[in-house]
Amino acid sequence: MASRVQLNETCTPADSAALYRVFINGVQPAQVCLIEEWLWTLPSVVSVECRYDGIEHLLGMEVIASAPDLDGQLQACLAQAGVGAADLEIQPPQPVADADWAEAWKAFWPVTRLLPNLVIQPSWEPYEPGPDETVLHLDPGMAFGTGSHETTRLMLLALDTGLAQAQPWCSLDQAILDLGTGSGVLSVYLGLKGASGITAVDILPETVVVTQDNMRRNALPDTAIDVSTTPLAQLPTDTYGLVVANILAHILASLLPDIGRVLKPGGTVLLGGITVDRYAEFKAVLDTLPFTLRQVWVQGQWVALRMEWTGGSGMGAAS
Ligand SMILES: C[S@@+](CC[C@H](N)C(=O)[O-])C[C@H]1O[C@@H](n2cnc3c(N)ncnc32)[C@H](O)[C@@H]1O
Repeated sequence: MASRVQLNETCTPADSAALYRVFINGVQPAQVCLIEEWLWTLPSVVSVECRYDGIEHLLGMEVIASAPDLDGQLQACLAQAGVGAADLEIQPPQPVADADWAEAWKAFWPVTRLLPNLVIQPSWEPYEPGPDETVLHLDPGMAFGTGSHETTRLMLLALDTGLAQAQPWCSLDQAILDLGTGSGVLSVYLGLKGASGITAVDILPETVVVTQDNMRRNALPDTAIDVSTTPLAQLPTDTYGLVVANILAHILASLLPDIGRVLKPGGTVLLGGITVDRYAEFKAVLDTLPFTLRQVWVQGQWVALRMEWTGGSGMGAAS
């Protein structure tokens, strides 16, 4: 199984002249966040993925970069990070063709059970669903969101819990915003559960086609999810009862006032993408805004939060 950890917002495969792939073997699960943070200090890095054998066993990390000398830079930065770089094996970079980029990782991604009643089925894998199982047919293409990364799982777990308990914050009748939709995994899940007023946005243009393809794979009507690259700042004020946003903490922190602005008073935001060691810092930002923390989920190094917008109508960022 492969889980795409994230795409660098400033450099996507589409705008790179040439890409190189490096495998880091021997990574311990506890090292992943630290190694990831250091990798993102290298400007040529465009993607970091964890490779798993099944769900539990971490095989290593795959890094895609737009420069051929990544292994040397990696050795230097891992040595500085003091993560026991001596135990890591960094394979020499291999050039990646665009077609390979989109195809090669498929071999690592089988049908995956994310929750007791939720299975993700890649478009190229056969699967016979059991009774009461929700099957999400997904192909992330060039976008983030195989569904198997811990942050996405946490978001799905939170939504599943809310739906199973018919909690009002998770009502499917309200307007829902999926901010940073990636492959559309969260929107498609909500669509399969019966939501019809979903707006999905992302800053990466390729996510629009990928999400629309995934809607069709799941037989959702074209109208179920309105997907675009509309910036959050241009979305209407006081509109959504629920916002789901699985984006890295430092980006989320800057988006919070605008998230408050688009939420209806009393609306809920479900946030993922926050690491345990960044939680205190993130919470300090949250505490400056009229959000009330209602629920926290933790899985591995990742935290998801459910918060209620207790600001008044039209508060948050200037509209
Ligand atoms: C970690 S992925 C999450 C994908 C999917 N929602 C999931 O839960 O698996 C984060 C996504 O947020 C997008 N993103 C980052 N900053 C954003 C912003 N300011 N507005 C909208 N989307 C953003 C990225 O392009 C990426 O597709």
